[in-house]
Amino acid sequence: MDLPQFTIGSAHLHHAAEVAAIYAHHVRGGTASFETEAPGAAEMAARMAKLLDAGAPWLVAHDSDGTLLGYAYASQFRDRPAYRMTCENSIYIRHDCRGMGLGKALLTALIEASAQAGFRQMIAVIGGAEPGSIALHAALGFADAGRMRSTGRKHGRWLDTVYMQLPLGLGDSAPPEEEPG
Ligand SMILES: CC(C)(COP(=O)(O)OP(=O)(O)OC[C@H]1O[C@@H](n2cnc3c(N)ncnc32)[C@H](O)[C@@H]1OP(=O)(O)O)[C@@H](O)C(=O)NCCC(=O)NCCS
Repeated sequence: MDLPQFTIGSAHLHHAAEVAAIYAHHVRGGTASFETEAPGAAEMAARMAKLLDAGAPWLVAHDSDGTLLGYAYASQFRDRPAYRMTCENSIYIRHDCRGMGLGKALLTALIEASAQAGFRQMIAVIGGAEPGSIALHAALGFADAGRMRSTGRKHGRWLDTVYMQLPLGLGDSAPPEEEPG
C-alpha cells in the first residue's frame, strides 16, 4: 500500500480506541512493548489522560479521513525529580503503514515538541532490540547508550533492551531555566 497523505496533530482522548488498536497489534505480535496483554480503549484513555493532563507531548498521525496511522508521545524517563529534564519516547505505527516514512516524520515532530516542552534529553528504550526501531532512531541522530541482555522474555525468547539517546535543545550545555526539585 502507498503511504496515504497524512497530517500530524495533537492527540485527544477520543483517539484512545484507535491508539489501543494500533498498540494491540504490536503487543500481541511484536517485542517493542514488554506488555503481554493489550490494554483496551478505556485503559488507554486513562493512560493518555494522565500524560495529557501533565502537558506531555502526545502526537497522532492521521489520514485525510481522520483515520489514525500512528502515534508518538514523550513522558518523563523515570519519576524521581532529578529526571525531570529527560523524557522517554514511545512511537507506534499502524502495522500496515510501516516502512513508508511515517515513523520518521512522527518522531521528528515529537523531538521538536519535546524540546519545546523543555526536555533536554530523549531516551529510546528499544525492547527486543528491534532493528526497525534502531534504524529509525539512528536515522534521526540518536546515539547508542547501552544494551541490557535478556531483560525480557516474550514469544518464547529472551529479549535484549537497547537504549539510544538524543540531546534536545541546549542539551547539557547549559542548566535548565529552573532546577528540578
Ligand atoms: C519502529 C517504527 C516506529 C518505525 O517507523 P516506520 O514508519 O516503519 O519507519 P520509517 O519508514 O519512517 O523509516 C525510518 C528509517 O528507519 C529505517 N527502517 C525502518 N524500518 C526498518 C527495518 N525494519 N529494518 C531496517 N531499517 C528500517 C528506514 O529505512 C528509514 O531509514 P532512512 O531514513 O535512513 O531511510 C515502526 O516500524 C513500528 O511501529 N514498529 C513497531 C513498534 C516499535 O518498534 N516501536 C518503537 C518503540 S521504541
